Amino acid sequence: MRILLIGKDGQLGHDLSPVLTALGTVVAVGREGLNLANPDEIRQTLRDLQPHVVVNAAAYTAVDRAESEPDLANAINNIAPTIMAEISQELGAVLVHVSTDYVFDGQKNTPYRETDPTHPVSAYGRSKLLGESGIQQACDRHIIVRTAWVYGVGGKGNFVKTMLRLGAEREELRVVVDQVGTPTWSLDLAQAIAQFVLHLCPSAANQTAATGIYHFTNSGAISWYDFAIAIFEEAAALGFPLKVRRVVPIVSAEYPTLAVRPAYSVLSDQKTAALLGNPAAHWRQGLRHMLKQLAESA
Ligand SMILES: NC(=O)c1ccc[n+]([C@@H]2O[C@H](COP(=O)([O-])OP(=O)(O)OC[C@H]3O[C@@H](n4cnc5c(N)ncnc54)[C@H](OP(=O)(O)O)[C@@H]3O)[C@@H](O)[C@H]2O)c1
Repeated sequence: MRILLIGKDGQLGHDLSPVLTALGTVVAVGREGLNLANPDEIRQTLRDLQPHVVVNAAAYTAVDRAESEPDLANAINNIAPTIMAEISQELGAVLVHVSTDYVFDGQKNTPYRETDPTHPVSAYGRSKLLGESGIQQACDRHIIVRTAWVYGVGGKGNFVKTMLRLGAEREELRVVVDQVGTPTWSLDLAQAIAQFVLHLCPSAANQTAATGIYHFTNSGAISWYDFAIAIFEEAAALGFPLKVRRVVPIVSAEYPTLAVRPAYSVLSDQKTAALLGNPAAHWRQGLRHMLKQLAESA
């Protein structure tokens, strides 16, 4: 099986490369090998490589910057994956794409299911939602994995790394308490994506008619404040250098950002657990593993 991994240098891409290698021959491209702002490059790359499976881990993920660059966010998060879907359909390939909890407005207080109405409240969320519908219209055999609050060892940065950096510099940190979601370790997500690939592929032993949207996060639900506390507890136990003594809970209004974020964006795992047959690991377990990896790679 020939697999094209797009976005190899992001957090998720970093963890997907080795995981997908267990399934077949992987060609992994980053920005220097394929600029997603160029539709012709996308068409050419797919037609040249003739993959059986396309996995798109790339995205415009700068949530606040997207408010002032909506066209670029749309090009990378909507136009590019829609073209991937069109060419996948032409080649008879399957497409696995990653989307976000930010397609929801956060007004619910129970986990969002795949069938719940979407209503993004940011330019990033709108661009990702348009990408979902572009794929659904263009490619018969696709899986769109909505996930949330992703962190991992690879890529340029995330909440965990930011907390570790600030926690090593300052005695007091202020972290928002009124946004609730589920932190998701990129390696757990990568392993779930590999399982989705097997469910989409004609040659796989456990092939099903799986196609459409699936939610995957680690399990559990917490606020960014609770997550920060857990990061410092786990990091202290592993001997990370920390100066922080106090984490102060604040509301989002005290930490204004350019983009509005959903207050509650927990994703239901029922549909995915029924397909994959195993529940996702708890977020705290993912955090512990990621911090160990980070400590070992330092
Ligand atoms: N991070 C989260 O909290 C989160 C939450 C929900 C859903 N998701 C979704 O999960 C997926 C993976 O996210 P992630 O956290 O791994 O993101 P990430 O670390 O920001 O990686 C995204 C990758 O896409 C690349 N990219 C951006 N613009 C590109 C372009 N024009 N051409 C080629 N490559 C380009 C980036 O390259 P550069 O580094 O060079 O820009 C980066 O390597 C995305 O679909 C994202 O929307 C993420």
